[in-house]
Amino acid sequence: MIQVKSAKEIEIMKKANEIAAEALIVAGNAIKPGMSTWELDKIIHDFIVSKGAVPSSLGYGGFTGSACISLNSELIHGVPSKKKIIRDGDIVSVDVTAEIDGFNGDNAYTFKVGKVSDRAERLLQVTEQALYEGIKMAVPGNRIGDISHAVQTYCESRGYYVVEKYIGHGIGHEMHEAPDVPNLGKAGRGPRLVPGMTICIEPMINETTAEVRVLADKWTVVEANGNLSAHFEHTIAITNGEPLIMTKSSLHHPK
Ligand code: MF3
Ligand code: CO
Ligand code: CO
Repeated sequence: MIQVKSAKEIEIMKKANEIAAEALIVAGNAIKPGMSTWELDKIIHDFIVSKGAVPSSLGYGGFTGSACISLNSELIHGVPSKKKIIRDGDIVSVDVTAEIDGFNGDNAYTFKVGKVSDRAERLLQVTEQALYEGIKMAVPGNRIGDISHAVQTYCESRGYYVVEKYIGHGIGHEMHEAPDVPNLGKAGRGPRLVPGMTICIEPMINETTAEVRVLADKWTVVEANGNLSAHFEHTIAITNGEPLIMTKSSLHHPK
């Protein structure tokens, strides 16, 4: 069942989202070549805890990090590791969920380390913009399929591959709630959007194939050809008017 939030609940939920958004800024400022993803995860963990919040990912289904940190061909669910070293020219996706006052906020951003290839640059631009194309459709009266369709067509028309296997979701007391928010779909299909719904829109986009593989750590999802992949995510609330981007920060650049 879709848990529609009251205005008061949305108000309470803002704090978790602000902390999750700030955690991404902290992560982006901390990323340096030579650092392991384990070190970066610790910085994110300590920031979230310092705010009195809980990193929702830690222990989730046995996940060992406080954030998912995914390098280059790693799409999502990258397990932080002392063996994974961030290098100049890498792209690093960081996905943070924080919980406080009984609510969750979830967001992700793919960072550039130093100067990246033109290929990487374009993939990041398109994936981030796809998120905003999805968000534009998150208005009352529209359906989930309108969001999915917008993300899919934006990316596919630019030559990229939309991963079907992993999807966005509702969010609130739980990190993952109904409804599913796929990145592929037909306009006019799926649950109707009503004010008070809170959902995560999160395009997961590959460079050369829609196929993914899961590494031996049982978590890290990679582009099946070993080429680049990117992931951006916001928690948004459906309102009577424009979508409210609950994880909005100085990091993101809506167009
Ligand atoms: N934050 C992720 C999402 O966007 C979920 C991470 S669960 C974990 O849905 F266990 F992998 F951390
Ligand atoms: Co997330
Ligand atoms: Co999410």
